Amino acid sequence: MTPRDKVFREFNKQYSTTPPWITSSPGRVNLMGEHTDYNDGFVLPMAINYSTWVALRARTDSKVVITALDLDESLEFNLKDFSKKDNSWREYIKGVARAMQEEGYQLSGWEGVFSGNVPIGAGLSSSASLELALARAFSLASDIPWDPAQMSLICQKAENQWVGVSSGIMDQMISACGKENNALLIDCRSLETKQVPLTSDTKIVILDTATRRGLVDSAYNERREQCELVARHFGVKALRDITLDQLEGERGKLDDLLFRRARHVVSGNLRVHQAVEALLAGDNEGLGALMNASHESMRDDFEISREEMDQMVAIAQGQPGCYGARMTGGGFGGCAVALVEDDRVETFQEAVLKLYQERTGLDPKVYVTRATDGTNYEVIS
Ligand code: GLA
Repeated sequence: MTPRDKVFREFNKQYSTTPPWITSSPGRVNLMGEHTDYNDGFVLPMAINYSTWVALRARTDSKVVITALDLDESLEFNLKDFSKKDNSWREYIKGVARAMQEEGYQLSGWEGVFSGNVPIGAGLSSSASLELALARAFSLASDIPWDPAQMSLICQKAENQWVGVSSGIMDQMISACGKENNALLIDCRSLETKQVPLTSDTKIVILDTATRRGLVDSAYNERREQCELVARHFGVKALRDITLDQLEGERGKLDDLLFRRARHVVSGNLRVHQAVEALLAGDNEGLGALMNASHESMRDDFEISREEMDQMVAIAQGQPGCYGARMTGGGFGGCAVALVEDDRVETFQEAVLKLYQERTGLDPKVYVTRATDGTNYEVIS
């Protein structure tokens, strides 16, 4: 049963009626541009066919009552008076509510259930997918107009301020604004977006290394600070504002580690634009080569890969029909992404699973994905 059908059925069971609304929002995989978003740079993610669904109806009071079906846990709180308690899924709901209220929205209560199939903790943005599905639920229950970019910023704020991760805007923007068969070029400073059609003779394959590292306790925030230090050195707002030539020119004056961190980001922004050009030209080899170069940059300059990830990427790159592969997401574990010729996806999948298992003893997963629409809702009754 799909999570969509599950939320429909369970809502029925719990409330003895059909839900008036079902909202959904997808996870994402990023094709190019890692750790560039919080440097006001560019990214090229796509929304994937794995989502979080919420079935809900409005209440007449100011309470929110929600059951996490996959965990069999629930939460009830009053929108007029709530505070932070733990670091569980519950905080995403309260965080989104608080961020919407801080934006000046009057929220009304609602009740419902949610479920999802975005792998959790794998770097595929299960949290952004939950946040946006919830924001959509709040906006339906409270009759608030839906503006995808603004709601993305609100959900990012929930994650930054309530949950405590200094993440950028990429995950929320792609979850909100994705479009079927397209990747999305996002200018993370202006929030301007451009849909970029994917090539029809390839598949985007996600390779889960079965290694994990949570964002909160990872070196994510440390990387962010290092980037800010270099921006300050140049007297600019963000690394987005410097060129590779400028950076090279200052090499002697910068600590080598900081130089490499910045080189990853500045070259990463260029690779995003080159990847868009490759996609528009139908140049799979070109895009694949950029993915490989991006992995090297993450491994050697930004140092956010790990041994198992490098193994996975090398195995994928070595398979016939694979144009290129790279780590995707925040780093230190999680998933790689590969661009694979359509006809060879099955043999690719089998070979990667077998070789990775043999070399690492871990139990990887492979998801052959397609690009889907962003945040959505159905009116049921
Ligand atoms: C995480 C963050 C994003 C982005 C990526 C790295 O997914 O949530 O904002 O910084 O890492 O590109």
